Amino acid sequence: MTLLQELESRLAAALTTVLGEPAAAAVTAAADLRFGDYQSNAAMVLAKQRKANPRALAQEIIDQLDLTDLGSAEIAGPGFLNFRILPSAYAARAAALIRDERLGVPASGAGRTVVVDFSAPNVAKPMHVGHIRSTIIGDSLARIARFLGFKVIADNHIGDWGTQFGMILVGWKTLLNAEALEADPITELVRVYRDINAATQADPTLLETCKTELVKLQAGDAENLAIWRQCIELSKRGLQKIYARLDVTFDHWLGESYYNERLAGLVDEFLEQGIARVSNGAVCIFSDGSQPPADDPFMVHKEDGWTDNPAIIRKADGGFLYATTDLATIQFRIDEWQADHVWYVVGVPQQLHFRQLFEAAARWGKTGDFRHIGFGSILGDDRKLMKTRSGDNVQLSDVLAEAVERAAAVIAEKNPGLPAEEAAVIAETVGIGAVKFAELSQNRLTDYVFSWDRMLALSGDTAPYLQYSHVRIRSIFRKLEEPFDAAACAIVLGESEEIHLARLLVRFGEVVPTILEDFRPNLLANYLLELARAFHSFFEACPVLKTAEPLRSSRLALCELTSRTLQQGLSLLGIKVPDKM
Ligand code: ARG
Repeated sequence: MTLLQELESRLAAALTTVLGEPAAAAVTAAADLRFGDYQSNAAMVLAKQRKANPRALAQEIIDQLDLTDLGSAEIAGPGFLNFRILPSAYAARAAALIRDERLGVPASGAGRTVVVDFSAPNVAKPMHVGHIRSTIIGDSLARIARFLGFKVIADNHIGDWGTQFGMILVGWKTLLNAEALEADPITELVRVYRDINAATQADPTLLETCKTELVKLQAGDAENLAIWRQCIELSKRGLQKIYARLDVTFDHWLGESYYNERLAGLVDEFLEQGIARVSNGAVCIFSDGSQPPADDPFMVHKEDGWTDNPAIIRKADGGFLYATTDLATIQFRIDEWQADHVWYVVGVPQQLHFRQLFEAAARWGKTGDFRHIGFGSILGDDRKLMKTRSGDNVQLSDVLAEAVERAAAVIAEKNPGLPAEEAAVIAETVGIGAVKFAELSQNRLTDYVFSWDRMLALSGDTAPYLQYSHVRIRSIFRKLEEPFDAAACAIVLGESEEIHLARLLVRFGEVVPTILEDFRPNLLANYLLELARAFHSFFEACPVLKTAEPLRSSRLALCELTSRTLQQGLSLLGIKVPDKM
């Protein structure tokens, strides 16, 4: 049980005694440590329900509250309950954490399956900054869920069956440079796509040729299918390189095309069940009127009031759409994978698509906890959408290359004596870590300005700062002459800095589960920064190696626990720690 859960359980016991019936209330970490470590507004909420005096009720609760071994409680303001935790309670819990592989994080997801749908770039189109955000956030959420005990299925739902293949097929047949394709398939495929796209502007008949090739592909033409398959293979190979560099892995790559066979039957089923109907030759899902228009994803407000906003699942020409594939995908994930949760990490512009999708799935009887985890844009220095100097979308592979290059420069300055090979490995860890942390320390919904200097600063709110903190702690242990076993140490807390460090270490198990309440890895990022700062204050105020026993071992054990917590926390963000910096 975490400390917070322990407080909630003791509070529930007191409430039950006071109210004469089973009762419970939430406890939260206090925002301001001057007022205590934890707080609860239980008395105020309950007093309001019962028209009682909140401060009087708070006093009754405190009279019944057994905080033996934990600390004390007091009333503040209109009836807040503030809890102060004893240093001895923190010491006991920190000592227990040293023996706990999970560092106090409960396995609260055990027994549940979650599909995390993230990254999902489109084949033969470059992976752009939107895909960067999806890849980094999605990977972190998958890691966190896995650590919390969920069965996680990471699925890369790549866009491998779009209309772009009309152009790519024509480009492949007329413009392809085999050597360039071999060297860098993604870049060459994108070039071919771009050049054909440009050529169609000048020559409209070319567009017709593209359409014909697409129709042939969709009808199963052997030559076009073979080219298509090769495109997918090459693109996957290129993507794998980026994922390997990012240390991102998937359990499956079931792209859109995987569901092709199921789409016709699905549309028939929707028609039979009356979930969809034909309108102007297309098959559409309309509002069923069960919700107020403002909440209904199949309604939209225009000048003259609310009008229909249907989702098309089959076009008049017989073609299927993004929504059709996504419905088939939901069915597969629920029926084949027994998913309890499906998390879609996709930019905010697709919000309407997902609202319609979840509503249509529910009408179809596919129930589960479906979440669209949206995110904002990445902006350049000019606060406009990030672009390259030539005005193109920025490519993820270029961002990573530049991050590593810049990290190498920072490291060369900080530690010029490092052998080149070692420095290169560290630069990779630091550069990639910096890009990830810059992303994950933001509120995912806000747009953020991409700044190289800010993300690589060794003393800012950055990955390099956290990595460096970890390196510094490990270097303490390198100086030790005797073997050290943290698990055998008793923790003694005296100085306020060491109490605070222990307080934060104990909080790790409380912070990690809260990330998934609203899918905010930034809560973890901020926690790690706070922990690192607390460590540096502790290290300044409390000598470690030069202190007499038993304090010396106790402080060494705190160092050990801090380094493990930093490493585990960063690993939940997908960030590695170097040995040296
Ligand atoms: N390929 C899509 C895009 O790049 C994202 C797919 C997200 N996943 C999904 N199941 N719709 O916009």
